[in-house]
Amino acid sequence: MKRIEKDKIRDLVAGQVLFEEPLKKYTSFQIGGPAEILVIPKDLEDLQKLIKYLYKQQISYQVIGNGTNLLISDQGLRDVVIKLNKVNNIIKFVDNKLITGGGVNLPVLAKKAAQRGLSGLEFATGLPATVGGAVVMNAGTELGSIADLLLKVKVLAITGDLKVYEREDLEFNYRSSKFQSHSEIIYEVEMELNKGDKELIIDRMREILVKRKGNQPLSLPNAGCIFVNPSSDSAGRMIDEAGGKGLQIGDAQISTKHANFIVNLGNATAEDVLNLIERVKGLVYNKYGINLEQEIKFLE
Ligand code: EPU
Repeated sequence: MKRIEKDKIRDLVAGQVLFEEPLKKYTSFQIGGPAEILVIPKDLEDLQKLIKYLYKQQISYQVIGNGTNLLISDQGLRDVVIKLNKVNNIIKFVDNKLITGGGVNLPVLAKKAAQRGLSGLEFATGLPATVGGAVVMNAGTELGSIADLLLKVKVLAITGDLKVYEREDLEFNYRSSKFQSHSEIIYEVEMELNKGDKELIIDRMREILVKRKGNQPLSLPNAGCIFVNPSSDSAGRMIDEAGGKGLQIGDAQISTKHANFIVNLGNATAEDVLNLIERVKGLVYNKYGINLEQEIKFLE
């Protein structure tokens, strides 16, 4: 990007603007080269100013939330990178409805809903995503996914203007939504939860967390499940059966606890992870004739 554009962005935005900022600091994998320019807008107005400018100048950008489902290239990113978690952190309950900002931490939201005796978000316990990231991915578990709860999604269109979608417009599917092929930014969502028994909801969440800590490698840097599950099986089980557990390239390792996770043992690079992904896909293809599809998003 031209020097003049970088200076313009720095002057335009009231939030943080960082140059050559290592992105490994912003991903749960702790992997990723530098962003030529990383912007952390401080509120909606700030973000709108930025998006309008980028739109006018035809400068492309990439958006990150909590960085939990991402693998970022070792070479870093030349686009403008926008980190969204400060833009909208509203949490507002109206009866059994909930209005919440795209930057809100999903497990925190799940806890607040539980404390009000509202059920529906239990699955999100310990799922390290922002609300916005979770909507883009339609994050979930076998207990449910975020699309099941949504009524409306307010986004920032590429022009920088706000726009509202109804759930029916969003093409939700298993771990996918229309937003995966769309450069719109999730600003706010409205959800409908169910009234339930507070103590029961909290107990259920505690059980989910204990189970997750027991069978997922949560104490090492990772990016959640690497592959989506094929329609009638579990990718983790298949990789395990194909002998993938513990395979290692550089410091990237197929978790010995859950085979659909890759963990960073210290200094893993994106290249290590990509090579390991190819290796594992080969193992599963040879044993089952199935091509595993990635769930994590690779940015380069
Ligand atoms: N299994 C193995 N070996 C392994 C891993 C799993 O044999 O290494 C077996 C388990 O014993 C179990 C079956 O495979 O019989 C399914 O495993 P699990 O219950 O862990 O569920 P999963 O299908 O592997 C899904 C989600 C997870 C979510 C869990 C918990 C996907 C791709 N994964 O995993 O989500 O946390 O259920 O409900 O949908 C994520 O999306 O990032 C993620 C981690």
